Amino acid sequence: QAPVIAVDGPGGAGKGTITQLLARRLGWHLLDSGALYRLTALAAMKQAVDFDDETLLAGVAAALDVRFEPSPGDEPARVFLDGEDVTGAIRTEECGDRASRVAAIPSVREALLQRQRDFCQPPGLVADGRDMGTVVFPDASHKIFLTASAEERARRRHEQLLAQGENVRLPDLVKEIQARDERDMNRSTAPLKPAHDAQVVETTGLSIDEVLDQVLAVTGR
Ligand code: C5P
Repeated sequence: QAPVIAVDGPGGAGKGTITQLLARRLGWHLLDSGALYRLTALAAMKQAVDFDDETLLAGVAAALDVRFEPSPGDEPARVFLDGEDVTGAIRTEECGDRASRVAAIPSVREALLQRQRDFCQPPGLVADGRDMGTVVFPDASHKIFLTASAEERARRRHEQLLAQGENVRLPDLVKEIQARDERDMNRSTAPLKPAHDAQVVETTGLSIDEVLDQVLAVTGR
């Protein structure tokens, strides 16, 4: 079994950036599990599936035809759904919000479980999500829980969205982030919380390099 570094935490805590840098540094595979929930939401929207129909949504998750393609340099991996490049389409606020709704459905989580575990290949995997250390890879060699204040996470997300050309008001974003935290922490299956054996890294006020240093220290590298 290849080693796994599980990196969990709320949205906007910097997991995406840190896990990408970490995977690149180690030469390991990367699992962006949030992308799978976003893809399920996007596929369901495209198929005009009723978001109250849990059975249909689980079917959409099980049938996802996805491909991740590493990009050169610092670019995030490109994501394809049914052969179509949806790298930008899954990053919108709407898709994120829908993703957190489908992620609250146990049968959807179940449908995505094995697909996530299949990413664990030599020489190792860096897994980014909410339940990597608690549910998907409970035996991960290292577990890290990244956090930051809701305000700081909203500020980071705001910058990202602006760079994507999406103009969302910062106060609205703080509210949305708090609502999404609430939903992620209070759902019945795989609620967002640090694994009992996770190291919590508080990133408010830290630069990317400072966070990466702390994470590397936790993993002993
Ligand atoms: O991390 P990202 O913002 O892309 O995730 C989108 C949504 O998917 C999250 O708000 C969360 O509700 C859900 N998610 C999850 N479990 C994961 C990853 C993401 O429930 N492992």
